[in-house]
Amino acid sequence: MKVVITGASAGIGRALAETFARHGHAALVVARREARLVALCRDLGDRYRVAAYPLALDLTHADAAEVLFQEAVRRFDKVHVLINNAGMSPYQDFCELSSCDLRQILALNVQALTELCHRFIPHMVDHGEPSHVVNVGSVGGYAPLPYFSVYTGTKHYVRVFTNLLHHEYRGTNVRVSALHPGGVLTEFPELAGQRVRPWAQRGMLTPERVAELAYPAILRGQRAIIPGSTNKLAVTVGKVLPFPWAIRIMTLIYRLSVTKTDPTYRRCQGPS
Ligand SMILES: NC(=O)c1ccc[n+]([C@@H]2O[C@H](COP(=O)([O-])OP(=O)(O)OC[C@H]3O[C@@H](n4cnc5c(N)ncnc54)[C@H](OP(=O)(O)O)[C@@H]3O)[C@@H](O)[C@H]2O)c1
Repeated sequence: MKVVITGASAGIGRALAETFARHGHAALVVARREARLVALCRDLGDRYRVAAYPLALDLTHADAAEVLFQEAVRRFDKVHVLINNAGMSPYQDFCELSSCDLRQILALNVQALTELCHRFIPHMVDHGEPSHVVNVGSVGGYAPLPYFSVYTGTKHYVRVFTNLLHHEYRGTNVRVSALHPGGVLTEFPELAGQRVRPWAQRGMLTPERVAELAYPAILRGQRAIIPGSTNKLAVTVGKVLPFPWAIRIMTLIYRLSVTKTDPTYRRCQGPS
């Protein structure tokens, strides 16, 4: 299969690229840090003898979905797997976020993901071969995450949107899944401005483990993929408990496991 993965220069996206390559699939890997993508592609080619291509692209740019689609079709002709993995958010009070932060979170987590589905699904339906779309959400799509109001909102969008796409395309060759991680040992917490206490890190999954758990579930076309028992528990909290109880529990967990630091995301270039 020919696979497109966004946010593949680090964390879960990188681990998914490795897992797909290990199973013999060619990949187009996308993110902003080109040197990392080039090194990843070289590594995947050397280790697994698969074709892997880098594409340096900021997915928050207005024409990004079109640029990515054209490059994917140029490289592969037919694309069989799209993984919308890139996502971000500072861990801050709502009013600490700048307007530019808001635009960036929404553009990446919602707009780019939606446009890429809109571009690739008709292409997959047209070529007719077994295909998969995977949108990476979060346990935050089920359980409320304190100091992540906008982020949690975007991940609710990813969950609901993906459920509906799964339903809409169930009679076609395209299977649509959402992968909902939570607490993964990637760059995400530090970039967001979270210092995770050592005891809490012990309960977190590695991105490699997430990818390993997700791979067979993606190929089965599972609608919602929740890797790991701790994350399943957090999802149950969000599903079963009324909001006032769920937010109390999640706030307590965050208070015990995370300290707030300064986000180290590339700061927004634009009006604050
Ligand atoms: N880690 C967790 O605990 C956790 C929990 C729940 C959900 N998730 C979700 O899982 C997904 C992956 O997270 P992760 O933990 O692997 O994060 P990560 O280590 O921070 O990686 C994020 C990836 O997204 C790319 N990216 C960020 N902004 C981009 C932009 N504007 N254009 C293109 N690429 C961009 C980054 O590459 P460049 O900087 O090179 O562009 C990087 O490859 C996200 O959707 C996140 O919300 C993570």
